[in-house]
Amino acid sequence: MMINIAIDGPSAAGKSTIAKALAKKYQYVHLDSGAMYRCVAYKAKLEGIAIDDEQKIISMIENTVIELKPDGSIYLDGKQVNLEIRTNEMSMGASNVSKLPLVREELVRRQQEMAKSKGVIMDGRDIGTVVLKDAEVKIFLTASAKARAERRYKENLEKGVESDLEVLTKEIEARDYQDSHREHSPLKKADDAIEVDSSNLSIEEVVSKIEEIISKKI
Ligand code: DC
Repeated sequence: MMINIAIDGPSAAGKSTIAKALAKKYQYVHLDSGAMYRCVAYKAKLEGIAIDDEQKIISMIENTVIELKPDGSIYLDGKQVNLEIRTNEMSMGASNVSKLPLVREELVRRQQEMAKSKGVIMDGRDIGTVVLKDAEVKIFLTASAKARAERRYKENLEKGVESDLEVLTKEIEARDYQDSHREHSPLKKADDAIEVDSSNLSIEEVVSKIEEIISKKI
């Protein structure tokens, strides 16, 4: 039986990595909903639109094509933007743009459309609470801010990107606060989601924990 799987949680908890591994294992499609908010923030920047100008951003979105490809690449109006949307500036830009209710409404509509034939693993902040309320499996993936900042720091070192652990921790905490305290669809665990704390677990351990949960539903 094909089902839908929702994975929510704070930034840098490992949602995308885990979702990708699960998608490979079950041959499901992984959809990274955060990438869509990042694309909106990036295009607004390119077009010189203020991030809080909801009307202008909405008209911009109406003429915007965002594609999440099966290999994980992201296309904005036909151009690959994988790297451009992953900067710190776009992380905060996406968090800012995601506060706007009309932007959320339109992106949620597109996300629901993408998941309607099932077989989807979607990660984000409001997937279990809003986008796929009827997902058969809902995971709320958490980790302490310290563990998340350390992982990002290590990733950056491996990529040769200069970074500062203290600054990273502060940025993660600021985005957590903003994402969980916004008025519309804040980050919160759905009542029927299962919480998995990955602070002291390896990727493989998290994946196998979630596989156990999925196997009871498939
Ligand atoms: O998952 P991410 O870090 O790429 O997401 C970037 C921002 O987009 C995040 O700080 C909050 C917002 N977002 C959201 O509000 N709802 C989602 N389903 C996914 C992301």
